[in-house]
Formats: sequence, structure tokens, C-alpha cells
Amino acid sequence: MVTVKSDRIVMRAVGYIFAETIIVLAIAGYAWAGSPNAGAHIAMMKCAGCHGDDGKGRGLALEDLNPRQRPISWTDKSAMAKFSDQQLAQIISKGGDPQDNPPAMPAFRDKLNPQDIDDVIAYIRSLAQ
Ligand code: HEC
Repeated sequence: MVTVKSDRIVMRAVGYIFAETIIVLAIAGYAWAGSPNAGAHIAMMKCAGCHGDDGKGRGLALEDLNPRQRPISWTDKSAMAKFSDQQLAQIISKGGDPQDNPPAMPAFRDKLNPQDIDDVIAYIRSLAQ
């Protein structure tokens, strides 16, 4: 009798540990994957001047810069599908077309940390659904 009872307690404890591990992994996974809401805030503050409030790439700041290459609309699903998340992170971190002089798409590696970049990518992806 006693053994059965303690077995049950052990099983229950294992169950709790299992459930907690799943919850912790889910929360961590959410943070790693990037939050579109946090990304939207960053985009409004740092990207909308050129990429526009709607991400379509017609921000007012581009009028003066007149870049060699216009930004792609982030709502264009097939155009955005050509970029991997890694490529997007690279552009955001290191800046865009190196032949633009001065570079139109600035490097953000000193202004955004890796989590910010993941968040802003999650936001960009959310526009092209
Ligand atoms: C000063 C203007 C400017 C700002 C600010 C700016 N960008 Fe850009 N961005 C550009 C231009 C111009 C291009 C296209 C040409 C190139 O690659 O340089 C571009 C290209 C990109 C691309 C490649 C896909 C595309 O849309 O063409 C990504 C991704 C991108 N920008 C993300 C961002 C993010 C995220 C921010 C804010 C954190 C940001 N940009 C801020 C001007 C800007």
C-alpha cells in the first residue's frame, strides 16, 4: 500500500516537472522567436521614416535620400519570401545596398540588440501574411 502511494506521488511530481518544463520552453521560445508587437514599436520609432507607417517603403525621409534601390514593400508576400530571416537580420544589422553613398538603409547593429532585431523581423513578417 505504502509503495503504491509513494509511486503515485513520484508520478505526480514527474508530471509537474514535465509540465513546468513545457511552460518554460514555451516562454523561452516565444522570446527567441521575436514579438511582432514589440517589433511594431521599434519600426514606428526607427524605420517608418523611410519604410512608411504601413511598411510599404514610401516614407517621407526617402524623398531627400533618393536611394539607388527603393525598399520593397513589407506587405509584398512573394517579394519578402525571397529573404530568409537571417538575410533580413543581416540587412538590419549591417545596413543595405553598399553602393548607396551615403548608405540609405542604415546599419542598426549599434542601436538594436539581437532581441530587438528578432522582434522587428517578426513584425515585418506579420505584414506579409
Ligand atoms: C534612412 C532610411 C531608412 C531607414 C531609417 C531604415 N531603412 Fe531599411 N531600407 C532603406 C532603403 C533605401 C532600403 C532599400 C535599399 C537598400 O537595401 O539600401 C532598405 C531596405 C531594407 C530591407 C530589405 C528589404 C526591403 O524592404 O527592401 C529591410 C529588411 C530593412 N530595410 C529593414 C529596416 C528596418 C527594420 C529599419 C528600422 C530598424 C529600417 N530598415 C530603417 C532605408 C531605410
